[in-house]
Amino acid sequence: MNSFPRVAALWCLISVVAFGQSVHPVANVFDPKATPADSVYSVSMLMLAICAAIFLVVGGLLAFTIVRFRRRKLDDSREPAQVYGSNRIEIAWTVIPVLIVLVLSMATARTVLEVQNKRMPANALKVTVVGHQWWWEFRYPDLGIVAANELHVPLSTVAKPAHTLLKLESADVAHSFWVPQLAGKTDVIPGITNTMWIDPRQEGIFLGNCAEYCGTQHANMLLRVIVEPPADFEKWAAAQKLDAALDPRMESARATFLSLSCINCHAVSGTPATGTFGPDLSHLMSRSTLGSGVIPNTPENLRSWVKDPQAIKRGNLMPNMQLNSRELDEIVIYLSSLK
Ligand code: CUA
Repeated sequence: MNSFPRVAALWCLISVVAFGQSVHPVANVFDPKATPADSVYSVSMLMLAICAAIFLVVGGLLAFTIVRFRRRKLDDSREPAQVYGSNRIEIAWTVIPVLIVLVLSMATARTVLEVQNKRMPANALKVTVVGHQWWWEFRYPDLGIVAANELHVPLSTVAKPAHTLLKLESADVAHSFWVPQLAGKTDVIPGITNTMWIDPRQEGIFLGNCAEYCGTQHANMLLRVIVEPPADFEKWAAAQKLDAALDPRMESARATFLSLSCINCHAVSGTPATGTFGPDLSHLMSRSTLGSGVIPNTPENLRSWVKDPQAIKRGNLMPNMQLNSRELDEIVIYLSSLK
């Protein structure tokens, strides 16, 4: 027996349930919280409405035809009247789709221009986003801050609008920066600087991810945008600007860290560690996740990550350093002090 209809029905059911629950804010393009996302949302709605109308007309006509002209028991077996060609119908099904495509292209072009040509106020916060395999670097050139994977930006209100202007660059291959609730996706291309902007009007954490296949761990190139009131943002920025903590109790742990090859890839401000290949670790403990959003930043997870990053995010560019247990303890103790 052909199981296709049952499989198809099950698939539809799963999709409906998955969509309805919308467990992953990542995919939620239907809940915009910033102006560029509002614009994308409006075009999506227009497009969905037109597609729904087409579906209803075509599906309705099909259903009507199937029911109205089905073979009845008493039918004689003669063929019905055969009709060849109709200029009026040909013209209708050429002109109507052309008009629909025209409306959609014009609406899309208008939205793209509106978002792209928006003049940024001089006080807009500037952030350079660098896509790496497979993590995000966030540089705030005016503030002298380098962070990773968690982008802090100020909340925008009617009384005090706050825009963040993002310059997108790549350190290796093509990526795409996408936080569905804040803006449409923008490609991150090697050798080219793209720009985008956001003005989030709701506090909170907004999840995003890389939206352009960039290698094995593309799906785990996650990011979060932390939108906070300007005062909290200033507080965060002030803490990030400081050199990494120099706790005298960490003397020996720090020495171990600095003696290992960690420092070839990672930077810790105020120390000889100045690597730029991996994420800056100066304020690692201010981040809530490790491995670009893959696991929560807990002491146990940090230890597992340093011990064998490949077991957690296979293929990522941090090798297993084969640390002995004393070294591992000291590295974890030192990293845990980087508030
Ligand atoms: Cu970076 Cu996909």
